[in-house]
Amino acid sequence: METPGSTEASPSDVASVLLDIDHVGIAVTDLEAAVEEYRAALGAEPVHREVVREQGVEEVLLRAGTSYIQLVTPLGPNTPVGKFLERRGEGVHHVGYRVAEVGPVLERLRAMGVPLVDQAPRPGSWGTTVAFVHPRGFRGVLVELVQAGPLPKPG
Ligand code: CO
Repeated sequence: METPGSTEASPSDVASVLLDIDHVGIAVTDLEAAVEEYRAALGAEPVHREVVREQGVEEVLLRAGTSYIQLVTPLGPNTPVGKFLERRGEGVHHVGYRVAEVGPVLERLRAMGVPLVDQAPRPGSWGTTVAFVHPRGFRGVLVELVQAGPLPKPG
C-alpha cells in the first residue's frame, strides 16, 4: 500500500503496473515491403496505420494476439528513427510496455533516478498516451510506456 506522497511501491504494486507487452517497435526502410513480408510469413494482419509527425515516423500496427508488431519507418533522415537506421540498420528499435496510466509510472521511474527521454506523458498513435524511457534505464532497450486510449483496441 502506498502512502500519499510516497515514491516507494511494494512489489505487488510494481507487478500491477505492467499489464502486457503492448508492442515491439521495429525500424524498417521500406514500410510496404515489411508489412507484406510479415503478412506473408506470419499471417500478421495490419490493423492500423498512422503518420506520427511528432515522432517523425509512419507506422503500421500488425496484430499479434493482444499485442502488436509496430513497423516504423522514418519521415526523413534527421529523425530519431532515421538516425537509428543510419547507425544500426533495420531491427528492433523499442519495446512498448502497456500500463494502466503512464503518469504515475513515469513519476516512479523519475524518483528512482531512471533516465527519461520524455519528462511528461504525451500523445502517441491511435489515441494512446506514451512516454519514452532512455535505454540506459532498461539494459540497453529503449522502452515506451503505453496507456491505451479511449478507443477499444481490436483483439
Ligand atoms: Co512504439
